[in-house]
Amino acid sequence: MRSKFITFEGSEGCGKSTQSRLLYEYLKKQGRRVIYLREPGATKISEKIRKILLDAKNDSMSAECEMLLYMAARAQIIKEIIEPALKNRKIVICDRFLDSTLAYQGYGLGTEINLIKDIGNFVTRRIKPDLTILLDLPVKKGLHYRRLAKDRIEKRSLEFHARVRQGYLKLAQDEPARIKIVKVAREKSVTQKKIRELVERYVV
Ligand code: TMP
Repeated sequence: MRSKFITFEGSEGCGKSTQSRLLYEYLKKQGRRVIYLREPGATKISEKIRKILLDAKNDSMSAECEMLLYMAARAQIIKEIIEPALKNRKIVICDRFLDSTLAYQGYGLGTEINLIKDIGNFVTRRIKPDLTILLDLPVKKGLHYRRLAKDRIEKRSLEFHARVRQGYLKLAQDEPARIKIVKVAREKSVTQKKIRELVERYVV
């Protein structure tokens, strides 16, 4: 079987981590060679960068520094894990990828979209997801599900998070063959069923 790269995207509290893990467990049970990763993170270096990025004390971080740190974490996970795994014909499931930078730092913070795309091509070595599941739900609902102790990004205004959501919807509109929108249902199992149907139709 060909390697497959599946990413999960969405704004805060959309249930992405739960849903991506459920898919991972499901595919693993089927005996598929699958690995699960999160961004920023997954390698020692990228997890260190994650701490810097999410530390609420780093409130003076510039938009440029923020975007480049997300990209630096990504450069490491690509070289160290994703590229070798895909070469090894594994299924790679990643909780967030380049679309997060386009949505958060691009549409959310206002960094130029084409610049993010160019740097993205450089750090990802043009590796693109085969399928991206975009979990969509109203911003207020998502933020409500989040824990009280907020990290540096979660703390941003409702307007910021609304721009992120709209940004994601725009990305999905631009690339409908890759990015599939899944409306988050009240029941986790209903959302998961929709995700499995998409994965079976487009990927495995
Ligand atoms: P998580 O909460 O899904 O683990 O993601 C960590 C935070 O980092 C979340 O608030 C989204 C944010 N983020 C970006 O702003 N840009 C990115 O490129 C990535 C991968 C995450």
